[in-house]
Amino acid sequence: MASPDARLKNQTQHLFDTLARYTTTIPRKHSGVPVRNRMPGDIVLVTGTTGSFGCNILAQLCLDPDVKWIYALNRASPRVDLTERQVTALKQRGVLDDCLRYPKYQLLEADLSQTLLGLSTELYTEIQNNVTHIIHNGTQKLMFTSESATNLNRALDVAWTVNLAKPLDKFEDCLQGLRNLIDLALHSPQITRTKILFVSTMSVVRKYPELSAPEEHFWDPSPSIGFGYSESKWVAEQMLHHANQSTGLPVTSVRVSWSSLWRPKRALGNQRHMALGGEISARAEMSPGRIAPWVPTYEAASVLCAMRHSNEPILHLEDPNPTRWDEMFGIFAKELNVPLIPFEDWLSLLRDYAADTCIPKAEQRKRNPAVNLIPYLSGMDFRTYISQGHSGLDTTKAVQEVPRLKDVQISKELVMKWIKGWREVGFLPRQEALGILHSKL
Ligand SMILES: NC(=O)c1ccc[n+]([C@@H]2O[C@H](COP(=O)([O-])OP(=O)(O)OC[C@H]3O[C@@H](n4cnc5c(N)ncnc54)[C@H](OP(=O)(O)O)[C@@H]3O)[C@@H](O)[C@H]2O)c1
Repeated sequence: MASPDARLKNQTQHLFDTLARYTTTIPRKHSGVPVRNRMPGDIVLVTGTTGSFGCNILAQLCLDPDVKWIYALNRASPRVDLTERQVTALKQRGVLDDCLRYPKYQLLEADLSQTLLGLSTELYTEIQNNVTHIIHNGTQKLMFTSESATNLNRALDVAWTVNLAKPLDKFEDCLQGLRNLIDLALHSPQITRTKILFVSTMSVVRKYPELSAPEEHFWDPSPSIGFGYSESKWVAEQMLHHANQSTGLPVTSVRVSWSSLWRPKRALGNQRHMALGGEISARAEMSPGRIAPWVPTYEAASVLCAMRHSNEPILHLEDPNPTRWDEMFGIFAKELNVPLIPFEDWLSLLRDYAADTCIPKAEQRKRNPAVNLIPYLSGMDFRTYISQGHSGLDTTKAVQEVPRLKDVQISKELVMKWIKGWREVGFLPRQEALGILHSKL
């Protein structure tokens, strides 16, 4: 069996090989002859607008008076029409009104991994000629395993799932999709270059050796190694870096921290965080002063959209003044009438629960979706992440670029609205049923 060092070396080489496959054909300098002057206003191509973050990004772009038109690219579904899927998704996230107020977007079914993004030549050319910014948000759907994902989706009725069993090779389509977007931008005929804003993730730096990862590129991929998801995002960041270095293409990769996918006006949440936040919040004790750097998604999307104007290659999107865990979880504990216990104890209880052969797996996942997160919570060294009480991501540059990032905090009111919303959608039992549920867990 290979030693851990040898394994790390092999994995690192695999990442470099993958990167090379997508970058060797990127031209050394910008080869096009830009001929057109840009019309006033931004024309934005955004991907994955049916997802949690994507809905909020679409809403923020609609509200932004500087944005003149939006091309919203999503994958096709044989079953449900894209318009219907989008409207349902916007409704679920409480942002439909924003999009209806300024309906300046065109929904397009696309396959980013295909030539011309799977669009007609005419449409592709129109987009290439006009688009000023590309916000590449979608196409990465995380799952634990296909089986648990199906069940988690069924249990939570959302698209987001976490597949930590999915190796880097399974993200080839995503990487090809990014490469195709780079090509689209590189061959734009506009004088002002098309900007790519890439939605990366904090997982890229999840094993960064210091407590606060800087807003910088790092050539050594070891902090990302372990999950195909984070590895693929590292490769993606490096592809963009390469394109920028060799052609001057303006790019920014934004490493997004956990966002609480919820919109204040409607007390509806994203059930993924109900699984994570709901369970942990109710059961994990955080020492006073430790912090939770989650960012409310609606505000996170607003900050992200503003970052399209930044010249920084890497930015972090995380709460720079995080809420204290004990404050946030104290509210959950009080409201849900559950004890606060140390995180390790909770995780251990969760593992015991998952190992209980008397309860069918599907039922376990339905009753307690947090079991799906066991590999994730174990793998990301969540304990250190929390116990050190550090935000994990340096946000100095992000705050300089978008000062309102300082104001996007999770308040007590927000937590109360989460609980209310989760009760409304049936994720949390109503108060009277809580005692019965806890006795079953
Ligand atoms: N939410 C967070 O806390 C967080 C944190 C860090 C980074 N991020 C990043 O933010 C981005 C969006 O995340 P999210 O949580 O909003 O995810 P999400 O709710 O699952 O949405 C993902 C979007 O991508 C689309 N998509 C998924 N798989 C696809 C595929 N194979 N081909 C084409 N389109 C596909 C989905 O379309 P369907 O509707 O058809 O499934 C959806 O529009 C991701 O890149 C993620 O890495 C999110």
